[in-house]
Amino acid sequence: MTMLKNQVEISSKDRWLASAPPNIALIKYMGKKPQLRNVPTNSSLSYTLDHLRTYVELEVGDFSKDDWVLLESSLLMNFAVEDQLFGLELSEKGKIRYLEFFSFLKKKMNIDNYNFIVRSNNNFPGDCGIASSASSFAALTVATYSAAKTLNPEIDLSLDDLAHLSRQGSGSSCRSFYSPWTQWEESEIYQIDFPYKSLLHQVYVVESEKKNVSSSEAHKRITSSLLNQGREARAEERLKNLCRSLKQLSWKEAFCIVWAEFWDMHALFETSHPPFGYMSKGSLRVLTCLRKHWEEFDDGPIVTMDAGPNIHCLYRDDQRKMAEKIQKELKDFSVYKNYE
Ligand code: DP6
Repeated sequence: MTMLKNQVEISSKDRWLASAPPNIALIKYMGKKPQLRNVPTNSSLSYTLDHLRTYVELEVGDFSKDDWVLLESSLLMNFAVEDQLFGLELSEKGKIRYLEFFSFLKKKMNIDNYNFIVRSNNNFPGDCGIASSASSFAALTVATYSAAKTLNPEIDLSLDDLAHLSRQGSGSSCRSFYSPWTQWEESEIYQIDFPYKSLLHQVYVVESEKKNVSSSEAHKRITSSLLNQGREARAEERLKNLCRSLKQLSWKEAFCIVWAEFWDMHALFETSHPPFGYMSKGSLRVLTCLRKHWEEFDDGPIVTMDAGPNIHCLYRDDQRKMAEKIQKELKDFSVYKNYE
């Protein structure tokens, strides 16, 4: 089986460790087909943030049931993996969802007669504006498969099989199995090549002003928006155009498409019944600065937002100086980035 890029997959007799990265979508997965497990209404395209990882360790033992606890850095050392871990916070609801998905995976891999302690943690802080659900569900899927290969040696799954299983826990996690670019269509998830192989990533962390609606809830609520009519066709058209732009190195065109795409998603949020939203004063300040930069220099980063107030920027390697200049202009906001 082809491994995830930079994948850590280490096992002993009763413990298994795996890791997976998050990804940032440029064409968004927003809206699901009814009665199916995270089957999207439109295709999406993402860039994988390979340097960021969620680690999952599974320990099998004489436990009465599965449980989740935080993975400590010291345990990582047992596997000779050196990385700094942060205190991942999992709500009670989040824990239940995670463990329910683990039960589903155990059944699928015929190891549901065993109980485990599931330990997980991220090498990025929880408040850095990068949602960890994609990396968490992908890493849990890989770790479970690792355990299954020991406990049920007959099992034989491909990377694609694992991505499809992971999708059923959290849709966007299926894109974390490929790198650097992943396209996810209704029933296909695959790596796609563009000349931009390695991008600089910045996320501006902005205070949230509104009560959070989870992305799973957002998928349901947007069906009540009138703007949702035509959403599928708009997203598919943008995907086609974005792929063409990225292939032809038309960076500005790519920026325009991605900019329109995240505003489209946020407009769906605000026109749902009842409306909800993530855009805050700080988000608008950052967005205005980035738009003005584009207006002035006819160049800039690709900008996007997820279901949250934070702003993600992707730069080409030759835009490093520009990335630093923009960061200075936005010095009131904390920034988290993948380069020095
Ligand atoms: C706005 O994958 O978090 O980040 O399938 O219910 O777990 P579930 O939803 P999730 O949705 C991600 C939404 C998004 C856009 C994207 O990543 O494509």
